[in-house]
Amino acid sequence: MSDFADIFAQVIQKLGGRDAVQALLGVGPSALSNYLRRAELPRDKMAIISTALHAKGWSFEPKKLQLYPLTTQTKRRVLLIITGGIAAYKGLDLARRLMDRGFSVRGVMTESAQNFITPLSLSALTGDKVYTELFSLTDEAEMGHIRLARDTDLVLVAPATANFIAKLSHGLADCLASTLCLATDAPVMVAPAMNPNMWQHPATQDNLTCLDQRGVQIIAPVSGDTACGEIGIGRLAEPVDIADAAAQVVHSKRNCLAGRHVLITSGPTHEPIDPVRYISNRSSGKQGYALAAACAAHGARVTLVSGPVSLPCPANVTLVKVNTARAMHQACLSSLPADIAICAAAVADWYVLNAATQKQKKQNHVQPQIELAKNPDILASLSQATSRPPLVIGFAAETEHLIRHAKDKLAKKKCDWIIANHISDDPSSSVFGSDHNKASLLKGVDIIDWPYQSKQALAERLIVEIDQWIKAHDCSIETK
Ligand code: CTP
Repeated sequence: MSDFADIFAQVIQKLGGRDAVQALLGVGPSALSNYLRRAELPRDKMAIISTALHAKGWSFEPKKLQLYPLTTQTKRRVLLIITGGIAAYKGLDLARRLMDRGFSVRGVMTESAQNFITPLSLSALTGDKVYTELFSLTDEAEMGHIRLARDTDLVLVAPATANFIAKLSHGLADCLASTLCLATDAPVMVAPAMNPNMWQHPATQDNLTCLDQRGVQIIAPVSGDTACGEIGIGRLAEPVDIADAAAQVVHSKRNCLAGRHVLITSGPTHEPIDPVRYISNRSSGKQGYALAAACAAHGARVTLVSGPVSLPCPANVTLVKVNTARAMHQACLSSLPADIAICAAAVADWYVLNAATQKQKKQNHVQPQIELAKNPDILASLSQATSRPPLVIGFAAETEHLIRHAKDKLAKKKCDWIIANHISDDPSSSVFGSDHNKASLLKGVDIIDWPYQSKQALAERLIVEIDQWIKAHDCSIETK
């Protein structure tokens, strides 16, 4: 029996036998034999069969000859943005394929997409409201556009027109769909569909390169007849393939650090001069907290050893709050073993040896004398510990000679990687306190320049690198 015959027999059995399938499709016995002989089902019959199987808890992929039960796992959320091209109708099929893979789908349509399909058809499929307006009183009352952008595990733009890709690459926010792509902190995936000339145009290709560099995943269009009658690359990738890629992104996003213990230092330290005064620095702790949140979201067990900051503890993170560098050092050593250590804290280099136990009063003509002693170097200490985490990552915040100083720190502290970021005196462009960061990752002799990006995006990029490192090094540290 051929593969198709085999899978078709299973489909017939799941739907209650040949008679039931003939009745369902409104055909006689010879039609079923013809489908079998041609190893193919007409498109309209395929849709009927898919719907009937769906109702019975099965999903059927005839092209891949797969029949599998609909997942009962916790639903992953995808925000499906359909933009205005002739391939918009395939967005409906894609919504179904995503649901087959256990996604809950929330639909968004641009104004031009509504020239091709209606929000009602998408809404009927997803069983949810479809969002179309940026400034809609009802939408904002029910769910603000920022929450819409954040309440998802993936933003998928399919089909994405050349115009929409240009908007994304330029960061425009002139409609609901483009605003959501800008406001989201979830991964963004784009499946373009357009005329072959538009696809090949340098402007489109430049825009795609720009999106690719920002970490947007592009599902390239395929070659074939396009709606305008031209042959070439431009057809939307098959909905089944897009749905598979989406499932893969969300799955790997969630699980790549599962079973790993990640130790993170964050924030400044306070080195007391007396009970009310201290030596510290301008670190906000935002980068360390963003790293902790991202590692936990990727399945890691996270210990966050934080100096004094007023940020909320990220979900599923064990927070150890400390004040001084010495306390941070102790907390880190007590948290070992760990698979990965990331030292993002701006640790004060010195502590006050003669710190007073009472508040020091000003006295005329007497200059206070502060005696300083060196704090332990936590990053160097973790890098050289007996139970050294296999991957130790530090930060180098520098005002000049960024890469040179970062390389020196990498060698001196004996860590594996250093993230070098530039700090300036100007508070408006300083990494301290900002939500953004411009950094380079130094991995031994390799230097990867990252774009100016949010601290969350930096965390995601670092996790991609860590994931690759884990795959390349067969490090199976048993820390549980
Ligand atoms: N670090 C640390 N413990 C210290 C000092 C620094 O763990 N006592 C870590 C930081 O968390 C960071 C890296 O070392 O990952 C570099 O910190 P940075 O402040 O840039 O450098 P310093 O080591 O303090 O050196 P310098 O002040 O000379 O630049």
